[in-house]
Amino acid sequence: MRGVVFDGKRVRVVDDLEVRDPGPGEVLVGIAAAGLCHSDLSVIDGTIPFPSPVVLGHEGAGVVEAVGPGVVHVAPGDHVALSTLANCGACADCDRGRPTMCRKAIGMPGRPFSRGGQPLFQFASNSSFAERTVVKAVQAVKIPEDIPLTSAALMGCGVLTGVGAVLNRAKVGRGETVVVIGTGGIGLNVLQGARIAGALTIVAVDTNPDKEAVARQFGASHFLTSTDGVRRSSPPAPTTSSNASAAPASSAPPSTSSTGTARPSSSA
Ligand SMILES: NC(=O)c1ccc[n+]([C@@H]2O[C@H](COP(=O)([O-])OP(=O)(O)OC[C@H]3O[C@@H](n4cnc5c(N)ncnc54)[C@H](O)[C@@H]3O)[C@@H](O)[C@H]2O)c1
Ligand SMILES: [Zn+2]
Ligand SMILES: [Zn+2]
Repeated sequence: MRGVVFDGKRVRVVDDLEVRDPGPGEVLVGIAAAGLCHSDLSVIDGTIPFPSPVVLGHEGAGVVEAVGPGVVHVAPGDHVALSTLANCGACADCDRGRPTMCRKAIGMPGRPFSRGGQPLFQFASNSSFAERTVVKAVQAVKIPEDIPLTSAALMGCGVLTGVGAVLNRAKVGRGETVVVIGTGGIGLNVLQGARIAGALTIVAVDTNPDKEAVARQFGASHFLTSTDGVRRSSPPAPTTSSNASAAPASSAPPSTSSTGTARPSSSA
């Protein structure tokens, strides 16, 4: 089968990947959709150290193809969204409904894949950039069949990370002000988390001005591009020259585009 493999130096699509059968408490899932998170790229550029060779991807959704012994909550044919990092489902934190606090899976990456007899690691206990993957049963969350699998895939990382950061970590309340720096997969979900939490002023910041439309769609009330204009907006250095009486740049009013965008200005 095909999959995206990083061998420690380069990343490529291979077509000779194999995955073992699901063992006790495991599920074999045919991946129908997967999202690209920056953390996958961070494995490739070394920002996130991870053993290789590794099958990348950790936002995925698909259809259960087989279940191992003891798995009763899903059956072949069920649509599932895959969660990341494989919480154990049985420790005190898992029992209290705090699976992200589970420490049983971290640091023990599995190797359910192989190529030509060589085992390959599974990124984030997931590896959704493969046509099939084997995950712990607790990671396979059954979903209604009318949910598009392309949307369900994003629940595995971007949505939970972004919305969870707002609701569970920052605990944003109604009427509060939120600034979100970077409006990629995570930032957009922070924006919609802030909107769900009832934040009043939600400022999105990105280096890419093309992100404005989607940032507003996800809940931003304001959008700033972190361009050179913003960097120049820091207070001018004190001067003793004859120009010292010139009005500081910060006295200029902010300009507003026809779309209501607050443009970077000397007062931003
Ligand atoms: N659970 C977790 O801890 C978790 C989960 C997912 C992602 N992440 C991390 O979150 C980060 C974001 O991931 P992503 O998938 O959203 O990335 P992304 O590449 O989709 O988005 C990043 C955004 O930031 C913008 N940006 C870059 N530099 C900027 C700057 N200086 N100022 C303002 N905007 C800037 C980019 O234009 C882009 O829109 C990554 O570091 C990723 O590894 C952490
Ligand atoms: Zn991610
Ligand atoms: Zn646990």
